[in-house]
Amino acid sequence: MLKSIIATFAVIGAACAAQSSALAQTAAEASGANALISYPSLFHSVEADHGMVVAQDRLAAEVGRDMLKRGGNVVDAAVAAGFALAVTHPQAGNLGGGGFMLIKLADREDVIAIDFREMAPAGASRDMFLDEAGNVDNLRARFSHLSAGVPGTVMGLATALEKYGTMSLKDVMKPSIRLAEKGFPATAALADSLAEYKERFERDPSSLRYFLKDDGSAYARGEKIVQKDLARTLKAIAAKGAAGFYEGPVADLIVAEMRANGGLITHEDLKNYRAVERKAVTGEFRGFEIVSMPPPSSGGVHLIEMLNVLEGYDLKALGHNSADYLGLLVEAMRRAYADRSEYLGDPDFYEVPIAALLDEAYAKKLRGEISFRRASKSEDVRPGLGPRDESEETTHFSVMDAAGNAVAVTTTLNFTFGSSYSVDGAGFLLNNEMDDFSAKPGAPNGFGLIGDEANEIAPKKRPLSSMTPTIVMKDGKAILATGTPGGSTIINIVLQNILNILEFGMSPMQANAMPKVHHQWLPDRIITEPGVPVDAIHIMEERGFIFARDPDGALQQRAMGRTNTIMLQGGKLLGAPDPREPDGGAGAF
Ligand code: DON
Repeated sequence: MLKSIIATFAVIGAACAAQSSALAQTAAEASGANALISYPSLFHSVEADHGMVVAQDRLAAEVGRDMLKRGGNVVDAAVAAGFALAVTHPQAGNLGGGGFMLIKLADREDVIAIDFREMAPAGASRDMFLDEAGNVDNLRARFSHLSAGVPGTVMGLATALEKYGTMSLKDVMKPSIRLAEKGFPATAALADSLAEYKERFERDPSSLRYFLKDDGSAYARGEKIVQKDLARTLKAIAAKGAAGFYEGPVADLIVAEMRANGGLITHEDLKNYRAVERKAVTGEFRGFEIVSMPPPSSGGVHLIEMLNVLEGYDLKALGHNSADYLGLLVEAMRRAYADRSEYLGDPDFYEVPIAALLDEAYAKKLRGEISFRRASKSEDVRPGLGPRDESEETTHFSVMDAAGNAVAVTTTLNFTFGSSYSVDGAGFLLNNEMDDFSAKPGAPNGFGLIGDEANEIAPKKRPLSSMTPTIVMKDGKAILATGTPGGSTIINIVLQNILNILEFGMSPMQANAMPKVHHQWLPDRIITEPGVPVDAIHIMEERGFIFARDPDGALQQRAMGRTNTIMLQGGKLLGAPDPREPDGGAGAF
């Protein structure tokens, strides 16, 4: 019976091919073969043909995208998104902090690196955070008006726009002024974090006014947050450029805030603040050019130092997040962070041995000390160059267009909501970046990082950072822009993101999402994210690697960083906000 039906179909089919394929399809459907749509990947990036901005806040990403849509370039979009984040993402977006920006324009060979890191006020001194017994007073270093370095963000954004943008400050700032003046609805995540930090805001009358409701209660999800004072400050900047912030009424408010509360920032400090263009650090990994932020960030140097070490192994063959692979990562991290503690600081004050740290021969020496089969002990690992001839919060956003123009920006107030003190009348939070200096040799800062002379406090010096905005190039063209917040974990998170993409062929969304590990030399323990294979952890523990565990033996795990990544592949933009950030978003067209 079946045979005769098929035979009949064959005859008819010869005369009518289309009908036959329709019937064949029906037969396949009937067999259940296509019952469900199936995509090959678990992760899906946002795709776009023209331009994209990925940020920790969706509204800010869309503000940036709108600039691209109006014909602005990637710098216009980045500056617009940067100011919008100061309104919609007060945890880290800022006017009162600092950061770093990398710009690759398709018609230029070099990558521009703008340093707008905060600067120690002229009145700062090496021992300013030590108490009478010579111990570091962490409250003063982290939660006082002394914790604030001279803010750099406004100078950085204004300088980038003036030199490399195409639009006016007025135009790119219009959306952020509107968001501050008319308000925007609090997302669930923003409402939650404002509520979580309520007690800190209550310590400061202006923060209380700016970040809690008039009756002192926390905003609920969906309630409108209006920031009139911030809008006024933004308008002053839009009208006068950086001078609208570093001079005139806004500067007066900053200085008054300092005088009334024992802070150090003066009119002179503000007026003298400059954003500095530095030579980006570059390295090569598997034929890709890695371009990242030089000192005063430690990010680029150590990212490339670790990639140099890891390039000597067939990582793919070891397998992603296998015990062997993770063992190698951790050993590379251990050594890079040991070096960080000794050699990295503001290059205007301390000669950072960048070339020695990035030398191939040094990577080979480090490889010689490393085995994934046996953990080394951090106490046995010292900063590795040998004697020398002596003489929760940050935010990253990426912008890219289909022509290969790219911007990677990381800015910060240091902790979530910075020092939690706001400039009364000016509507913005002050950073607590002074805690990124080494207040005393060997004393850990808020991220457990230690340092020495290279990063000691000095007037007008910039504190060492881990922020690692990075652009990857192939044949002179930008193909990837990425970066993340995460304090001391930043460099390691960016490292793993880049390896996920370049070595393991993952898409931006998958690379962001994959669970990651962190080791920073001291303390000698590995922090893991949920999802790092438990079998790999057990094997590594047998090999002597130490994982952070609670006294009851439970692994201490937490989400680390929030990587915002865009990639240009086959003429298409593929981007992804990090799934760890509830408010993250991509603006694309
Ligand atoms: O510059 C640095 O390295 C730190 N101030 C960054 C702080 C940070 O990422 C906190 N955010 N999660």
